[in-house]
Amino acid sequence: MTSNPTPPFVTRVPAANTPIVVAIDGPAASGKSSTAQWVAERLSFRHIDSGALYRAAAAAVLRSIRGSGDWSEDDVLRAARGITLTAARGAYVPILNGADLESDIRGSAVTHHVSRVAQMPRVRQWVNAMVREAAAGTSVVVDGRDIGTVVFPGAHLKVFLVADPWERARRRLTQRLGRSPTDPEIAEETERLVQRDSLDATQTVQAKDAVLIDTTYLTQEEQVERIVSLVKVLRPAL
Ligand code: CDP
Repeated sequence: MTSNPTPPFVTRVPAANTPIVVAIDGPAASGKSSTAQWVAERLSFRHIDSGALYRAAAAAVLRSIRGSGDWSEDDVLRAARGITLTAARGAYVPILNGADLESDIRGSAVTHHVSRVAQMPRVRQWVNAMVREAAAGTSVVVDGRDIGTVVFPGAHLKVFLVADPWERARRRLTQRLGRSPTDPEIAEETERLVQRDSLDATQTVQAKDAVLIDTTYLTQEEQVERIVSLVKVLRPAL
């Protein structure tokens, strides 16, 4: 019997001194972005949040054409032309014609429209190109829904985060309200999340070689620690 020195979760062993790509995918409010941000800080990697780009495209078209949300793919791409990814707050954040979009992209209007925008094939191509460009030549933690399958199928480590919908809703509300939400509030948010899960189902794909982490009963520190320790197996010197 031959022994295999490569741990099973390692998709591709990175050559020494070459950049590492860590992909973190999962459904809405599974903690991808905050976990990715924290993992990137711990390892001094760059964090790229692909969802923020879909949100920025939705925010840009909402700013340029108000109304029902019945825009064409060309409308969205035209509005998104002014978006760049800029290093700020320890991450790469989308900027529209020089203006910070952070408060817009987390708002309910953008959350309501973003899944439809994210289904547009040329918008997906635009986001993927922006993400790959931002990742060029440096070690990155990239979070989204199709990072390990479409954007970086050759990522060195792929993680798929899941959590119970009620717990995801509770976390998202705690973050948004800055207090403990009530059960009826959580129930309402759970319904919204489950609806968005179904709208996003086609683009949320777990790669065959991804490590599945259920964070329902984990603290954020614990989930960050798990991912950091997996990366350290890839490159013990980190
Ligand atoms: O933080 P949350 O999970 O609520 O969403 P997000 O990561 O900010 O992504 C916002 C939306 O962008 C999702 O609802 C998806 O429709 C879309 N998205 C996508 O289609 N593919 C990605 N790689 C990332 C986000």
